[in-house]
Amino acid sequence: MLRLQVLKSRTRNFSQRRLKSSSSFIRNTFIDYFKDNHGHKHIKSSSVVPLCDPTVPFVNAGMNQFKGVFLGVVDAPCSRAVNSQKCIRVGGKHNDLDLVGMDGHHHTFFEMLGNWSFGDYYKKEACQMAWNLLLGPYKLKPENLLVTYFEGDAIIGLQEDRECRDIWKEIGVQSSHIKAHGARDNFWEMGLTGPCGPCTEIHYINPDGSLTEIWNIVFIQCNREADGSVTALRRQHVDTGMGLERMTALLQGVPSNYDTDLFRPLINVIEKNSKGVSPYSASYKSDAAVDRAYRRLADHARMIGACLADGVFPSSRSVGNGPF
Ligand code: SER
Repeated sequence: MLRLQVLKSRTRNFSQRRLKSSSSFIRNTFIDYFKDNHGHKHIKSSSVVPLCDPTVPFVNAGMNQFKGVFLGVVDAPCSRAVNSQKCIRVGGKHNDLDLVGMDGHHHTFFEMLGNWSFGDYYKKEACQMAWNLLLGPYKLKPENLLVTYFEGDAIIGLQEDRECRDIWKEIGVQSSHIKAHGARDNFWEMGLTGPCGPCTEIHYINPDGSLTEIWNIVFIQCNREADGSVTALRRQHVDTGMGLERMTALLQGVPSNYDTDLFRPLINVIEKNSKGVSPYSASYKSDAAVDRAYRRLADHARMIGACLADGVFPSSRSVGNGPF
């Protein structure tokens, strides 16, 4: 009887631990944090098919459904929003197709967790809210985090974002963990035209010293015009993006996104249905062709699943607009 109780309580503790780092717990924690602690409205993900926007083949970021708000042509649905957006990056400016399978953290389809300020709070609050979520509910340690900010760009016509640098210092980030980067890394643009702005990224420092970007906080203040010039928007906004898959790998303590509860079931099914093929090696560092193929199949299956669910069929998109 006693043994049974011990066993039951061990099983309960184990499932509670699993539940506490499950991808759905991580997603809900993000949404509840912004909703309950900071007064954000939860807005549903849009379809992966862009709504009246020929500048992108698929919805490639959380901001697509808010583009009109940033441009000042659509009323904001609220002043603060939080969402988990289905994103596909297989064409246009952000195209990760060739990287998929080669590493453990690029995908054609992923979920982007984001919080949004439509002309409401700006840099200070956005950085502080992000930091508090990472150190509080997600229990990350500040010594394992590094932040980057925009070092300025003469062609874009923006100076170094010292305000952002100083905000991180005030929050308590060590100077050695604050780095400036140029437009390639720290000026975010959705496509060839559209709302854009300097960004500050939060990276996780892996045990081998490499960095994994976990959160991008964009200060939307400009618009890239069709002639390539960058003009100022009338109001300033905040657009943030955290990849659910990467965060899940980090919090589940597994070496790659493919080892999380978001991918492992798919890998298991592929293994089961691949006769005469060796099992997945479970190491994202393995560049054996078969392991890359496992990762690609699992990734593409999710992407195709999301497309079909949103009504994208091979014949409904023209060749050259994407992989179909
Ligand atoms: N738009 C930014 C990105 O996609 C932040 O959400 O990285």
